[in-house]
Amino acid sequence: MAFRRLRNFKIFLSVGFAVFFIMTYISFNDNGKSTSLYKFPEQLWRFMMSSRRQCGCDTCVAEPEGSTWFDERLNLSISPLLTKQNNVIPESVYKWWLTLQGEKKPKDIYEVMEELFKVIPGDFDLMDQSPYRCRTCAVVGNSGNLKSSYYGPEIDEHDFVLRMNHAPTARFEQDVGSKTTHHFVYPESVRDLQANVSMILIPFKTLDLQWIISALTHGTINRTYIPVPRKVRVSKEKVLVYSPELMKYVYDKWLLNHGRYPSTGLLAVIFALHVCDKVDIYGFGADSKGNWHHYWENNASAGAFRVTGVHDGDFEASILANLTSINKVLMFRGR
Ligand SMILES: *[C@@H]1O[C@H](CO)[C@@H](O)[C@H](O)[C@H]1NC(C)=O
Ligand SMILES: *[C@@H]1O[C@H](CO)[C@@H](O)[C@H](O)[C@H]1NC(C)=O
Ligand SMILES: *[C@@H]1O[C@H](CO)[C@@H](O)[C@H](O)[C@H]1NC(C)=O
Ligand SMILES: *[C@@H]1O[C@H](CO)[C@@H](O)[C@H](O)[C@H]1NC(C)=O
Ligand SMILES: *[C@@H]1O[C@H](CO)[C@@H](O)[C@H](O)[C@H]1NC(C)=O
Repeated sequence: MAFRRLRNFKIFLSVGFAVFFIMTYISFNDNGKSTSLYKFPEQLWRFMMSSRRQCGCDTCVAEPEGSTWFDERLNLSISPLLTKQNNVIPESVYKWWLTLQGEKKPKDIYEVMEELFKVIPGDFDLMDQSPYRCRTCAVVGNSGNLKSSYYGPEIDEHDFVLRMNHAPTARFEQDVGSKTTHHFVYPESVRDLQANVSMILIPFKTLDLQWIISALTHGTINRTYIPVPRKVRVSKEKVLVYSPELMKYVYDKWLLNHGRYPSTGLLAVIFALHVCDKVDIYGFGADSKGNWHHYWENNASAGAFRVTGVHDGDFEASILANLTSINKVLMFRGR
């Protein structure tokens, strides 16, 4: 009798353990996608380590992994977005920011922000890291190296797909994908966006913030240093603003003040390091023949002038090379 009871107890215990394992397995499965049973021990290990982990992926961008170069640069306490809560621009940042495009008589930035947050919600921050989150991001640049890459389907598998400036997807889906969750723009590089896409406005001057207010309402501003669209098709609720503090941090900490200011591409990559757990990079750099055209341009020489300008392309490329060499990002260079 006693023996029987002991056996029942053992069965009960095994079933209990099995249930526990399965629950663990399910809750730590990366976003419920493709895992298999042999990952069991790994899942359990992950569960036990979860209190110390930054995210629920196999590797987390924000986790220190022995690169002092990286650890000295990444500073997650800098919020990536200007929001109602994060609306104070430190004086040193503000002074630097005003010089970017030489704004002479800027309107009071706090008045402009107050007006702005009456038009857009300004209450997202995307900084919801947790041991349970595994947010994969594809940062898609505009390089001609995307042509005939057939990256489209794998780009679309990411939770976030971040694109920039004029980048189209229509007609290029097989190489660049069709999904976009966030699109980085400034007034001079803007395009209409689908209703479910978040615009991330990168402001280089006070007028850029005034422009977005105008473009979403009365449409009176039609010019910055060049003509810009009076109106733009985008959901107001989905407009986000890149923080000037993050811009200066990218310039100081990552770029070590090379060039006049960071390119949209670098701003997007560092943004992704702050809000994503896994970062894959597509469409950066020249094509295999060394050309700098955009993937939607037929003329490969069209980008010749882009090599010079306000950005230090070589230094930016070596930042990306370093991030790649320590596996913080995966770089897809075209096929
Ligand atoms: C990170 O940024 C915060 C806010 O600007 C700053 O106070 C802190 O000193 C920075 N940390 C490092 C290690 O640079
Ligand atoms: C956004 O909307 C488009 C068109 O309505 C749709 O095809 C696409 O799947 C949507 N994307 C996401 C990420 O929901
Ligand atoms: C901008 O608007 C003003 C006033 O309505 C008009 O005179 C001007 O031609 C417009 N400029 C452009 C570039 O459309
Ligand atoms: C391609 O672009 C270059 C540089 O802008 C230009 O000189 C050349 O005429 C263009 N070729 C064609 C076929 O459009
Ligand atoms: C890349 O990493 C190496 C080794 O840590 C470092 O010496 C170099 O300055 C880094 N390059 C950039 C652009 O930060």
